[in-house]
Amino acid sequence: MKDYLIAPSILSADFARLGEDVERVISAGADVVHFDVMDNHYVPNLTFGPMVCKALRDYGITAPIDVHLMVKPVDSLIPEFAKAGASIITFHPEASEHVDRTLALIKEHGCQAGLVFNPATPLHIIEHVIDKLDVILLMSVNPGFGGQSFIPHTLEKLKQVRAIIDASGRDIRLEVDGGVKVDNIAEVAAAGADMFVAGSAIFSQPDYQLVIEQMRSELAK
Ligand code: DX5
Ligand code: ZN
Repeated sequence: MKDYLIAPSILSADFARLGEDVERVISAGADVVHFDVMDNHYVPNLTFGPMVCKALRDYGITAPIDVHLMVKPVDSLIPEFAKAGASIITFHPEASEHVDRTLALIKEHGCQAGLVFNPATPLHIIEHVIDKLDVILLMSVNPGFGGQSFIPHTLEKLKQVRAIIDASGRDIRLEVDGGVKVDNIAEVAAAGADMFVAGSAIFSQPDYQLVIEQMRSELAK
């Protein structure tokens, strides 16, 4: 089977017991912690910052932390998140004045770097920075909230990104974020994704391990 990664979005976790809940989801078989940073400016919602990332590391979470920045501006947070223990940092190109510089900054700080594309954001920028990308994150909902429905036309866009990655011959993860569930994960994988963010689909269920196993068995089909 392909090397698929499941990345629960802790936006849907229990914030009052965050360390415990993240530990539970990693023990249940998740690969990566997806950490949604929202600033009530680039997106209409407000979540958490580097202090919470550091708190998870101090609590003992050793799994990779995938920081999805939905903030504007971006650059000042990068050293902070690197210090706080981020493994991957992704940002939306329209939120940075100098995308190439921001990607370089992430890598200089020792993290993997990625760009995030909203459902309506064109992909052409990829060709100019592909040598700096470790991850491309395709949003399958408009960013800002968990629990939204997967936008079907993003499947076509996923296929386009998969073709760009394959043509480049580079080792770039194709991550998808928004509305991913047991019911649609196989279709999303067939369109080319190999890293799956799922928030409400996992955290709304009492048994995280069961959902993650169901997702993996869909991926094995
Ligand atoms: C939305 C966030 C997502 C969100 C996914 O802006 O980037 O990571 O939490 O949540 P679900 O899986 O519930 O759509
Ligand atoms: Zn996200």
